[in-house]
Amino acid sequence: MSAWRCAAQDWRRGKGLALRLCLLLSATLVLCLRLGLRRSWAGVDAKPAVTERESGLPPAGRRVHGANEASSAGRRRQVTYVRSGRRRSPAEPTCCLQGAPPRRKTIRWHIDLQPWASPTPSLSDEAFRLLKYISTAQISCNRMNMKDLPRNLDSLKRPWSVCLDDRFNLVHQIKSKQCRLYSLGLGSDDNQFEISMADSGCEVHRFDPSIKLAHVQEGQHLWYHRLSIDWRDPNPMIAAHKLHTNTKKLGTILNDFGHHKIDVLKADMESAEWKILENLILEDTVEQIGQLVFEIHVHWPGFEVSGNDSTVVRYWYSLLKELELKDFRLFHTYKDLSKPQMFLKREAFNASSCYRLSWVNTRWK
Ligand SMILES: *[C@@H]1O[C@H](CO)[C@@H](O)[C@H](O)[C@H]1NC(C)=O
Ligand SMILES: *[C@@H]1O[C@H](CO)[C@@H](O)[C@H](O)[C@H]1NC(C)=O
Repeated sequence: MSAWRCAAQDWRRGKGLALRLCLLLSATLVLCLRLGLRRSWAGVDAKPAVTERESGLPPAGRRVHGANEASSAGRRRQVTYVRSGRRRSPAEPTCCLQGAPPRRKTIRWHIDLQPWASPTPSLSDEAFRLLKYISTAQISCNRMNMKDLPRNLDSLKRPWSVCLDDRFNLVHQIKSKQCRLYSLGLGSDDNQFEISMADSGCEVHRFDPSIKLAHVQEGQHLWYHRLSIDWRDPNPMIAAHKLHTNTKKLGTILNDFGHHKIDVLKADMESAEWKILENLILEDTVEQIGQLVFEIHVHWPGFEVSGNDSTVVRYWYSLLKELELKDFRLFHTYKDLSKPQMFLKREAFNASSCYRLSWVNTRWK
């Protein structure tokens, strides 16, 4: 359908009609591409796909070896917006080119809400269901944390727990030095977990918008990136240099860095965790993650979570059930008694405002 082929045909046949048809078709094609671009800007069914060649990043699967490399790659990066359902799929034709529509996953817009906890919705029923859920491990893990690693994380008061049972992949990844941890945080200086994982040979990427430099490497395995993880990408119509913060979805960062999977995702995001988790579920990014270690916050609904209190709690519960449907199992839960004991601005239900939860992806190979 390219213009030159049309022109060649036209020349051969010498018919003005064909030329006009070709021009019309080319114009339609341009229009279609533009519409595709608009739609992807609106977030419809599209995600920005940075192709390897355009991004100037190392090929998929290869690791980013140094801070400089990553930062210059970031500067050179040009984003092409193509509509594609699957991550890392080559740029598919956008619209109305071939007869058959391109195959793609159905994109989910929202998570499936669980039924109310009781026939008449009430906050206490929703709260008790959620609190029971987050206090009950679903699978037992016999070896948690790093007894055989350089630093003993058990000695920390508020542990971040990962599961090192033989039947899960993490311990093998650590032994073969193939493990990768992403840590999302907001300026907390408690980096013991990250340092310990890096000491054990994991490649650790800590994303923290509060650091001074764009990328900092500390030691052999620990990187800091001045990037904030969000549940949406910035509007591509705003030039990158006008954005004050560098905010991206986790899936976009995986693409940019050429990483296919993360063995452990740690998140301590002061209530942004709910929408981030939703984004990971809706875009299937969770399937690229082996274990999740999240601090969750329940003292207020969280960013961009709306509805009355029972609705909010039902939404939280439904998010966690989505993880269960994807074969994630809770193996550790920790109620933080050092934080205010608040649940949706109330001192009620014997709840804390803050819990640390760890899941293992039982499908993870
Ligand atoms: C909260 O909102 C839901 C849905 O809009 C409604 O069904 C429910 O009765 C409301 N609950 C309370 C306690 O107002
Ligand atoms: C309240 O929570 C604490 C700490 O988790 C627990 O020890 C205690 O038994 C709970 N109290 C009730 C009444 O459930």
